[in-house]
Amino acid sequence: MKALTYSQYGGPEVVQITEVAPPTPGPDQILIRVHASAVNTGDWRIRAAAFPGIMAIPGRLMFGPLRPRNRRLGSEFAGVVEKVGASVSRFKEGDRVFGMMPMGGATAEYLAIGETSAVARMPASLSFENAAGMPFGGLCALVFLGEYAALKPGHRLLIVGASGGVGAFAVQVAKALGAHVTAVSGPESQDFAAGLGADETVDYKTTNIATLGQRFEVVFDTFGAVTPKMSRDLLVEGGLFLPLNFGLLEIGAALLNRFKSRKIRLAVNPDHMEDMERFAQMVEEGAVRPVVDNIYPMKEAAQAHRRVESRHKRGAVVLRIVDQTE
Ligand SMILES: NC(=O)c1ccc[n+]([C@@H]2O[C@H](COP(=O)([O-])OP(=O)(O)OC[C@H]3O[C@@H](n4cnc5c(N)ncnc54)[C@H](OP(=O)(O)O)[C@@H]3O)[C@@H](O)[C@H]2O)c1
Repeated sequence: MKALTYSQYGGPEVVQITEVAPPTPGPDQILIRVHASAVNTGDWRIRAAAFPGIMAIPGRLMFGPLRPRNRRLGSEFAGVVEKVGASVSRFKEGDRVFGMMPMGGATAEYLAIGETSAVARMPASLSFENAAGMPFGGLCALVFLGEYAALKPGHRLLIVGASGGVGAFAVQVAKALGAHVTAVSGPESQDFAAGLGADETVDYKTTNIATLGQRFEVVFDTFGAVTPKMSRDLLVEGGLFLPLNFGLLEIGAALLNRFKSRKIRLAVNPDHMEDMERFAQMVEEGAVRPVVDNIYPMKEAAQAHRRVESRHKRGAVVLRIVDQTE
């Protein structure tokens, strides 16, 4: 089968389509015929070893110090269950499913994944392309805002990077949780952020976020534009700063802030089955809709990686697998 691979860290040009052996599902796994996958900022960071700041150390230890340990790329997928292992009870052959495979291997004609991983049945309204672009941003938004921030109706939330892969879902999830959303993005993304449901939009090119003159219960920074010092001026007493990217500065501030009223929480999305189920339910209910920046055939995966690296995509960059391979 065809799979997206890389044998060294580097620019989009290191991405290749390679012939590899198809997986054989274990007793607790399902075999999925993948119809669509995606390229997200996590895939870009793993491909380029572009781990921010001090995260380069755990990043390289996890993915390979000098060259990638796992040569398979891709973390998001949508497809059809082709085979189920002997002990699988959650899925059956023919189920349309979508999910996350954070350690790579999702961009391929077939994948095998444990039935208790971050995989769920696709809401009937979704196409494979739309579904494949949802798990990375959707799960992250749901876990960070719903669980870590415990966002409540009436909470004021500032989302920095509100139009990207995580932000586009964060705006929708926050609105579904009843928050008042102020969305920060670039000049060309203002109407887009409002269309996602943001109550107020801010252009980072013309407005200095540090001097917004408003305070929030939660500041969610998906881009890396808010420093711990800035967050203190943006948060109400007892408020929470959630930066998606963090280095030594944020780690130090998070430790110090344990003794202060305004907190910083540093976390990584755990990609749990339960969160994927809950997210699928929100999509089914119409609370969250897919947001696709562009769809590329698998053979144009390098271009897709280039688009992701721009840091200006809107929502998800999707790869069509089936058209390319049949
Ligand atoms: N900790 C975790 O578990 C976790 C989970 C998921 C993701 N992440 C990380 O979180 C980050 C977010 O990923 P993403 O997929 O949402 O990124 P993305 O798709 O590249 O989106 C970038 C966003 O930032 C905005 N932006 C660009 N330049 C900016 C600037 N100078 N100031 C403020 N905003 C700016 C963009 O708006 P315009 O296009 O309008 O300019 C866009 O809304 C990635 O670094 C990823 O590695 C961490």
